[in-house]
Amino acid sequence: MKYAFHVILLALAFSGCRPNEMTEQSTTDSTTYTEPHRPQFHFSPRANWMNDPNGLVYHNGEYHLFYQYYPDGMKWGPMHWGHAISKDLYHWEHLPIALFPDSLGLIFSGSAVVDANNTSGFGTKENPPLVAIFTYHSMEREKAGKTDYQNQGIAYSTDNGRTWKKYENNPVLKNQGIKDFRDPKVFWHSPSSRWVMTLAVKDHIEFWNSGDLKSWSKLSDFGIDYGGHGGVWECPDLFEAQVDGSSEKRWVLLVSINPGGPNGGSATQYFIGDFDGKTFTTSADKADSIWIDYGPDNYAGVTFSNIPNNRKIFLGWMSNWDYGQEVPTTPWRSANTIPRDISLAKFGDKVYVRSTPSREIESIATTSVTLKDTEVKDSLVLTNPQLNASLSVVSATVDAKDFSFVLSNENGEEVVVGFEKSSNRFYIDRSKTGKNDFAAKYPLRVYAPRFATSDKVKVTMITDVSSVEVFFDDGISVLSALYFSNDPLSKLTLHAPAAINVSGIKAMPLKSVWR
Ligand code: FRU
Repeated sequence: MKYAFHVILLALAFSGCRPNEMTEQSTTDSTTYTEPHRPQFHFSPRANWMNDPNGLVYHNGEYHLFYQYYPDGMKWGPMHWGHAISKDLYHWEHLPIALFPDSLGLIFSGSAVVDANNTSGFGTKENPPLVAIFTYHSMEREKAGKTDYQNQGIAYSTDNGRTWKKYENNPVLKNQGIKDFRDPKVFWHSPSSRWVMTLAVKDHIEFWNSGDLKSWSKLSDFGIDYGGHGGVWECPDLFEAQVDGSSEKRWVLLVSINPGGPNGGSATQYFIGDFDGKTFTTSADKADSIWIDYGPDNYAGVTFSNIPNNRKIFLGWMSNWDYGQEVPTTPWRSANTIPRDISLAKFGDKVYVRSTPSREIESIATTSVTLKDTEVKDSLVLTNPQLNASLSVVSATVDAKDFSFVLSNENGEEVVVGFEKSSNRFYIDRSKTGKNDFAAKYPLRVYAPRFATSDKVKVTMITDVSSVEVFFDDGISVLSALYFSNDPLSKLTLHAPAAINVSGIKAMPLKSVWR
């Protein structure tokens, strides 16, 4: 991706042809959210390029979503933090750009916290500030051949995130001589009364701490010999989560990596372990790579900070650096995943991350259709005139034998979501979906291993015009994938070569949040 950064910026510099303001303005104004492939209940910017979600924070009843944004074009370019807010994680209000590039550099990924004790002094105890911690990327220093072009800066808001001021003494954490030094995710660690920063540094994670968000001390390193190393480490997150059905808590370290994902390109791996305020330790096998989502279209995802009751809600960028800049959408590129609640589940002595659609999805549900438990031999059509499968959530529990859910239309376009018993893998096949030759590296059939061992599989499938997110075994194995069909895939059929039992079939049409 680094390479791509240069190509784009050089192209702009040489041609001198930044899109003019009028054109951009009118593109934005004419955006209707009815364009071909436009997601109807996922967040996407009105126009132009978006990548990672940033600064996810809940504050005074509002979820804040910032995002890597290039407001002047439909490919990656000089990064800003775009901004939107929501009360229910589905209906978003677009706000003005929160952070613009400045003399220290472009604004790369990072996080935001509520500084409840006003440790930074940017607010007051009565009106605690929101503080954003992000990476400055200096193109000038990079072009000049320096290695120290990524540094961490901070900015704050004392008006519920409506306006932002950059700290006058930025950067607060200077580059230590490694080019890739970015994507700070910060949380308050109560036992040590310190802010802890998790930072991606080339091929490992560094932990830093601070009492005031302004001066930082290095704590430890993790990961140089753990997990996947097929690409650079990016966008980490560290948090404690509850093991379902027990009082046990474990720490989860998310690390995005690009390339080197299980189905090619970008993906997010995780490590389960312990964190004592200074060091992350894990008993995981060093060679193990395990992914929060095996699909090709969930990258750079992190969790919101400051949600009451330690609830962990995750959002990812629903795309992939291998082809995200080529996808056939206009006048915008990219959306986020749906919000997912993160918890932990134990199978034997192994702990897995469980992702499930956050319950707020009910705010966009209409009627729900429940079908009788049945046996399927050959095929069963699950849709009816009330249910348009291309905008729906469908769940069912089926025998763990070969099966496939086929989303299709009259033109023979289809996306297949299934289970292959012989290899114990789930898959999505998007090879017959119309537009799939827009990029060289766009995998057509992708797989996820099955970890659960029961003889029934619960499948929850969420479809939104050009994406399908599938949660198998209640979110232990997940596959998210984009697709670009010429017409909506509004029909859903369950196929099974040998008879299988199906129970708890529930289908809910979902509403657009943009109209
Ligand atoms: C991940 C990433 C981050 C970086 C940002 C730049 O997709 O490469 O590491 O901060 O995107 O836009």
